[in-house]
Amino acid sequence: MALEQRPQEPAIRMAMMPSDTNVHGTIFGGVILSQIDQAGAIAARTYAPERVVTVCMREVEFHKPVYVGDIVSYYAWVTEVGNTSVTIRVEVVAERFRPTGVKVTVTDAEVVYVSVDDHWEKVPMRRPGNNDA
Ligand SMILES: CC(C)(COP(=O)(O)OP(=O)(O)OC[C@H]1O[C@@H](n2cnc3c(N)ncnc32)[C@H](O)[C@@H]1OP(=O)(O)O)[C@@H](O)C(=O)NCCC(=O)NCCS
Repeated sequence: MALEQRPQEPAIRMAMMPSDTNVHGTIFGGVILSQIDQAGAIAARTYAPERVVTVCMREVEFHKPVYVGDIVSYYAWVTEVGNTSVTIRVEVVAERFRPTGVKVTVTDAEVVYVSVDDHWEKVPMRRPGNNDA
């Protein structure tokens, strides 16, 4: 069972710009991956006592294209907490520019982060009920 449910509010919301496109004129997958990574890292902070670094992006599926002018929301939530790692599910929803307001789930991903300190030493995750930070 997932630790958290998909939140009502996205971690990040972005308008897609012409500079984000690939040679086909749709949004470059790397832009979406970068924003998934940022959204996941925000969600990971609930459990991570220090900075997080991305150890693995997996199960990234691009279901539908994203277009210039779409407003893209990144919903991110914790599905698993390990010793030093935390796993985040990210769902990417595009609100179309045309037809205006139509919402489409365009991408799903799972990202794993590890908490590390200033010396890049791994740090155990916080546990529920442990309010030491
Ligand atoms: C992340 C990093 C600190 C992990 O160090 P490591 O010594 O290889 O880690 P370990 O093998 O001890 O694993 C640490 C945790 O990550 C998890 N992990 C490691 N590789 C994983 C993978 N491929 N998939 C899922 N989880 C993974 C382990 O299961 C472990 O979790 P746990 O502590 O909750 O049980 C190290 O790999 C690193 O610095 N990577 C680069 C990170 C980075 O720069 N990211 C940005 C990309 S440009």
